[in-house]
Amino acid sequence: MTEIRLVEGEERLRFGRPLTAYAFEASPRTDDLTELRRHLSIGHRRVHVLFDDGEPRSTATVVEMTQNVRGALLPMGGVAGVATHPAGRRRGFAREMLTHVLADMRDQGQVVSALYPFRASFYERFGYVGIGAEPRATLHPADLAPLLRADVPGEVTLTRLPEVAADVRAVTEAAQRTTHGMALRADPELAAAHADDRTWAAVARVDGRPAGYLTYEIREYGGELSVQRFQYDGAVARTLLLGWLARHTDQVTTVSLPLRPVDEPATWVTDIDVTVRSRQAPLHEPAPMVRVLSVPGLAGIPVGTGEVTVRVVDDLVGGVWTFAGNGTLSVHPGGTPTAELTGHGLAALVYGVLDPADLPLRGYGTLDAPTADALRVLFPRATPFLLEHF
Ligand SMILES: CC(C)(COP(=O)(O)OP(=O)(O)OC[C@H]1O[C@@H](n2cnc3c(N)ncnc32)[C@H](O)[C@@H]1OP(=O)(O)O)[C@@H](O)C(=O)NCCC(=O)NCCS
Repeated sequence: MTEIRLVEGEERLRFGRPLTAYAFEASPRTDDLTELRRHLSIGHRRVHVLFDDGEPRSTATVVEMTQNVRGALLPMGGVAGVATHPAGRRRGFAREMLTHVLADMRDQGQVVSALYPFRASFYERFGYVGIGAEPRATLHPADLAPLLRADVPGEVTLTRLPEVAADVRAVTEAAQRTTHGMALRADPELAAAHADDRTWAAVARVDGRPAGYLTYEIREYGGELSVQRFQYDGAVARTLLLGWLARHTDQVTTVSLPLRPVDEPATWVTDIDVTVRSRQAPLHEPAPMVRVLSVPGLAGIPVGTGEVTVRVVDDLVGGVWTFAGNGTLSVHPGGTPTAELTGHGLAALVYGVLDPADLPLRGYGTLDAPTADALRVLFPRATPFLLEHF
């Protein structure tokens, strides 16, 4: 007999924590309870635990976030910490948990969901589709040195991340408004709790205003400077920050940094030697996946023009829906469908990661050529960038 319920406060340490610690960490270890209790009071997270005959067997956490979908900010549920006790594995507990969590997120008003899968095929069963891995550039700081000669107004200051959490948040929120796919933890307090004291933050200020930042760690003298986040609002802030990296010539050999779709390192400076790498691999390098939780909730997102009626076959968002676009999307139930889409097919179109012609080939839908043409105009291809890790 199974029961799924939310756990709060100390119950999270008693029931949820042992399951995730066993699944994701080196073990056996003794927890630092003071550190864990510091996180307990932070809200905007729902920790679900499945009990089988009273024994905690499976868990999943939903972190409340917002996500930019084609220019509109939507409530998003970030699924994390999905784990089943080894004694309960392969008995359908994770399936029961995820089915419950998907409905719960929708009931909480979340319109979309994202996660980092240990294996994409596991979450494909639950209507999630991959949006591709985040590329990283590796370069030599000396190559950026010419940028130090550029006459740019502004300055870069270096602190530990928690000291400038508010500035970093402001820059990131501004970037989120213009970056398709970008997710942010809804609660700045929760975001601040994730601001690690062992992380450097170099903030670029232009006219005294934070205009960009790098968060990073230096692995070792002569080794790599590894950037976690690189956000800026324009060429001036970018040049200031790349100049900051150039100052590490003769201290580190390489710099590695994540790239947004708008970042083109080959254009940053002449004679740059840069390698851009993007890898997705089960367990080690997960690439994010997304799904839609509510079709009416998509109303208002920026799209192309036209009208298409589709039948969506999905436990959560199934039904016949008419999408009409005139700059923004309107959604109505009913109509005469000319295409059938799975939950993945719908998510792939909404996020712009697949062309309609891909859908039948991936098993994500069936549609005729005129409907494919109409969907291509309504939901143009786009490249999402998630940013937030969870
Ligand atoms: C992954 C994990 C949560 C699965 O839990 P579980 O309770 O054994 O899963 P279920 O029995 O409910 O299986 C659900 C479905 O996924 C499939 N599945 C289970 N483990 C899988 C795996 N490793 N890879 C692919 N599919 C898997 C099952 O066959 C089942 O398919 P079906 O319902 O279509 O028949 C569990 O093995 C675990 O805790 N692993 C370690 C932590 C981890 O990797 N968590 C995921 C982080 S994103």
